[in-house]
Amino acid sequence: MDLFQPEPADLRSLRENAPVHRDERTGMWLVSRYDDVRAVLADPRRFHPDNALTAVTGIPRPVLRVLARAGFSLPPTLANNGTDTHAALRRLVARFLTPARVAAMGPRIAELAAERLDRLDGRADLHPALARDLPAIVLLEVMGIRDVDVEALKVWSTASLELFWGDVTVARQHELARPAAAFHQWLTSRIKAADPAGDDLFGALRAQGVPIRDAAGLCYFLLIAGQETTTQLLSAAFYAVLRQDGLWSRLTEPGVAAACVEEVLRRDPPVSTWRRITAEPVTLSGVDVPAGEPLLLMLAGSGSDPDVFAEPERFCPARPNARKHLAFGFGRHFCLGAGLARLEAEVVLRETARRFPELRLASTEPPPMLGLLSFRAPLSVEVELVP
Ligand code: HEM
Repeated sequence: MDLFQPEPADLRSLRENAPVHRDERTGMWLVSRYDDVRAVLADPRRFHPDNALTAVTGIPRPVLRVLARAGFSLPPTLANNGTDTHAALRRLVARFLTPARVAAMGPRIAELAAERLDRLDGRADLHPALARDLPAIVLLEVMGIRDVDVEALKVWSTASLELFWGDVTVARQHELARPAAAFHQWLTSRIKAADPAGDDLFGALRAQGVPIRDAAGLCYFLLIAGQETTTQLLSAAFYAVLRQDGLWSRLTEPGVAAACVEEVLRRDPPVSTWRRITAEPVTLSGVDVPAGEPLLLMLAGSGSDPDVFAEPERFCPARPNARKHLAFGFGRHFCLGAGLARLEAEVVLRETARRFPELRLASTEPPPMLGLLSFRAPLSVEVELVP
C-alpha cells in the first residue's frame, strides 16, 4: 500500500486485518477504525498533538539552515499545541470565525463564485476556475487581512504543504524551502507592523501580546490550513457529485448541496490523515502501543468504516448520520474553520449548478490527485458546460 495514495481497498484491508498497524517505512502506527480514531482524538491527555506539523520526510541540515536563516519556526500554537497556551490562542482565532461572522460571508462567497462563473464558456477545469483562489480570498477577508497578493499566497502555501507532508527528495526540499521561508518572513514583517488597535488577525495577536515568533507560526498554519483544505474540498465535491447519476441538477433543491458536502467529507475527506503521539503506553483494538510513538489516524478510513456508516463506499447524501464523520477532527482541536469550509462548499456547488444545470465531466478518466500524506483531492476537474 502507498501511504501517499491509499485506495479504498487498502483502507478496508487495514480496518479488517490490521486496525492498529506499525508501518515499517515511516515508523508510524496506522489507526484506521472509526472508534479508535475518535477515542484518540477525544483524549488529549494520553495522545498529544505535538507531531501534527512535523515534516513527514525528515528535513536535512542544509535545508534546515535555509529555513533557520529566515527565522522560520513552528512553535506549539494551535493544531500542534498540547500545552496550556492552546485555549487562549484558540479563543483569539475563534473570535474571527463565530457563526454570525461566517454566515455573513454567504453573499460574498456567492458573489465571488458568480464573478468566476461569468468567465466560463464551453469547457473548463473547475479547479483553477472556482476552487483555487476563492477560499484564500474568503479567508483573508474573514480575518480582516488586506493588501495580500493572493497568487503569492497560493504559491507559498502549496509549497509549504508539499514540504511538510510530501514524499519529497532533498533537491525538492531545497526548492520548497525558499517559498516556505519567504511566506514566514512576510508574515513576521506584517505582524510586526500590525496595529494592535486594528480589526484584523495580525492586530489581534499584537493586542493580546502573543510573542512574534508564536504569532508567525500560528498564522503560517492558519493561512495554509484555512484555505488549501477548502480548495481541496471544492474539487473533491465537484468530482464526487458529477460522478453520481442525476445528482448535479438537484444541487439547487433545499438542503441537497449541504448534504452532498457532508458525504464528500465523510467518504473523500481532503484531510485524509492526522497525527498524534502517545503520551503513555496504550492499548487500541487489542494492540499495545508504547509511549512516545507516532500515530497516523486514517480519517478517510474512519469515514468508510461499515460499523458506523452502512454501505460506506456508496455516495448517499440522504445518509442520516453523515455528519458523524471525523473529517474536521474531534474534541479539543476540532477544526475552527469547519463552518466556513462547509458554507463555502455548499454555496459554490449550488451557484455553479444554478448557472450550469447540465454541466458534466469531460472525461471518464480519473483526474490527477494531490498525493500528500495528509491531503488528498483532485488537482483538476475538467467539465463540459452546457448553459
Ligand atoms: C475542508 C476544509 C477543512 C478540513 C477538512 C479541515 C480539517 C481539519 C482537521 C482534521 C484538523 C485537526 C483537528 C484535530 O486535531 O482534532 C483541523 C484543525 C484546524 N483547522 Fe481545519 N479544516 C478545514 C478548513 C479549515 C478552515 C477554513 C479554517 C480556518 C478558517 C481551519 C482552521 C483550523 C484550525 C485553526 C485548526 C486547529 C484547531 C486547534 O488546534 O484548536 N480549517 N482542521
